[in-house]
Amino acid sequence: MKRDIEDAYLAAFALLSKSAQALYLKFGDLMESVPVNIPVLADKQGASESSVEEADAFVRVWGGPTAGGIPLAPSEGSAPPAHFIIPDAHFSRKDRANNFQRARRLGAYLGIVHARCRKKRQALRVICLGDWWDMVSLCHFEKGKKNFGQQGVVDDIESGEVALHAMLRAFEAICDKYKVPPDEGISFHFMNGNHENRLDQALDHAETAPLLKGLPTHKSILEELGWAFHPYMVPANIDGVAYAHCLPSGSMGRAISGNNLAKTLLDKMMVSCVVGHTHNFDFMMRHDAFGNRLFALVAGCYYDAVPAYAKSTAHLWWRGVCILNGVQDGCLVRGHAAITVEDMADSVGF
Ligand SMILES: [Fe+2]
Repeated sequence: MKRDIEDAYLAAFALLSKSAQALYLKFGDLMESVPVNIPVLADKQGASESSVEEADAFVRVWGGPTAGGIPLAPSEGSAPPAHFIIPDAHFSRKDRANNFQRARRLGAYLGIVHARCRKKRQALRVICLGDWWDMVSLCHFEKGKKNFGQQGVVDDIESGEVALHAMLRAFEAICDKYKVPPDEGISFHFMNGNHENRLDQALDHAETAPLLKGLPTHKSILEELGWAFHPYMVPANIDGVAYAHCLPSGSMGRAISGNNLAKTLLDKMMVSCVVGHTHNFDFMMRHDAFGNRLFALVAGCYYDAVPAYAKSTAHLWWRGVCILNGVQDGCLVRGHAAITVEDMADSVGF
């Protein structure tokens, strides 16, 4: 029944004009609680009054975007949506020379995947599992020591932001090459990681918050670029799959960990789920009584070289990205792939 309602909601959303869709996504939640002044909002947004009226009418029937989740476009073709998963990349100011190529390779590879999806009219969800930013300046904060340099935090935030822009520019260049619109049939989602969460912790602390006042946050940077931002350790429902940087276990809320992690996740969560965090790779698929394929994926990391501090565990890290090529109602209905960094370099040429 819920699925039917969601389908009807998505179908109704698709009937709105592009301008009304944008207004709904941006102001829908506000419109739900405060009556909208149509001429003023239209004037401020450079939109027509009829678009605002359209968005407002949609809110009256369906509520704001967060009431039912941000609407994700279904595939127009026969294949269900594909998921492109970016695990922990840890872009750090201490590795600037390498960041640029690594980010560009990722963007170019994503461009190839998006172009293929567009050919089949298949929707693509890009899901970054967090720890995109390394935030080394705040590493002591996570351990309960509240010492950090303000400039270090600024540089850390900038390093990840520069990498994000480098990735998106490379992505757009490939879209250009294959003549596919970079914003058609694609959505971007970010799961906050423990490394980004260091900043949220510092901002929550009365002693350290004033030092960070006015700085952009990971959330503000990503939302400015149109990404959906999801808080640390709170699973995001994307096509019925639970996505998070890591998932909590029991009342203490510690990250589920240990051997056979994919199996443990599937046993504990009882839905398909995808996490990062460990930098290792693990995958498990199970069939339910009706033959639906539930799965759990621990997606490794997106490093191209293992850093010196991790030499003793390097043999356990898996480096690359993952693709789920058809996800429907939390189940895998098509194939899946784990593409190593070396495979990606072969595909894009660098
Ligand atoms: Fe990580």
